Amino acid sequence: MLIEAENLNHTYALGTPLAQVALRDVNLQIGPGERVGILGASGSGKTTLVQHLAGLLQPTEGRVLLDGIVAHRRTPAALAQRRRIGIAFQNPEDQIFEQTVFREVAFGPRNLGLSQAEVATRVAWALELVGLNPTLMGGRIPFALSGGEMRRVALAGILAMRPHVLILDEPTAGLDPRGRQELLRRVKRWHQEMGLTLIVVSHNLDELARLVERVVLLKAGRVVADGPARRVLSDAALLRSAGLDVPHSVALLHALRAAGWPVRTDQLLPEEAAAEILRVRRAMEEIR
Ligand SMILES: Nc1ncnc2c1ncn2[C@@H]1O[C@H](COP(=O)(O)OP(=O)(O)OP(=O)(O)O)[C@@H](O)[C@H]1O
Ligand SMILES: [Mg+2]
Repeated sequence: MLIEAENLNHTYALGTPLAQVALRDVNLQIGPGERVGILGASGSGKTTLVQHLAGLLQPTEGRVLLDGIVAHRRTPAALAQRRRIGIAFQNPEDQIFEQTVFREVAFGPRNLGLSQAEVATRVAWALELVGLNPTLMGGRIPFALSGGEMRRVALAGILAMRPHVLILDEPTAGLDPRGRQELLRRVKRWHQEMGLTLIVVSHNLDELARLVERVVLLKAGRVVADGPARRVLSDAALLRSAGLDVPHSVALLHALRAAGWPVRTDQLLPEEAAAEILRVRRAMEEIR
């Protein structure tokens, strides 16, 4: 699916004293199978943007097109496009409303008109995909789960719809480091196996560095950078101007460079940074 934002503007509570501009003249195209990170400081407009990309909000100005169809309209064509997009909200409890985990995950597939047997297969498949045991979890009450479990149940409900586009808004918030890594590994595998388009909102740079190939950087509702993850995430001046820090590996390489080591500073992952440091050390030893 091709997702296009054209001159997209959004103001909350327009025409009231509480009016709040959230997006300004955003132009963006996301093609099938891309892995895109939406990055920005708190309040920069990330959640507002992805809700528009999923067709959930009406723009104040401009539009979002899903395969050429205006996304937010109430037409059958727009509805069919929106159904191909799965969005996991920033607060999973906002999207959970059934009495059991099974019913929660089954809700979407049931709405697609699948048979009971197919629904049950999808539910088991989706729960396993997010690392939850269907037999043990199916009968639990979603609201009596931990935050991390709730997040997984919400995700399972989305995956059970087999979306073409998966949007994750702060997917690892509230997870411990192990749970975080595991979820990221799974997301990457879904992308490979299911051929998804993946859109991930985060202000965690290390997380994005592992997950996406392209980064869109927002600052006060505007797109201030859109390019390869390696370029955007290693540009310390750009990131700082948007109120963010740099990934840990990049910070380390910058510090080494300041100390006179001729290292490249665009190695985003710890293992890449380590390889770069070793390369330069070897080169320096050969000169000696
Ligand atoms: N329902 C709302 N009503 C009024 N203003 C809102 C509403 N939701 C968001 N805003 C405002 O719009 C701007 C963008 O908010 P948004 O939630 O898109 O930011 P964000 O980048 O997702 O932030 P965070 O990292 O904290 O989740 C902020 O100034 C916010 O206060
Ligand atoms: Mg947000």
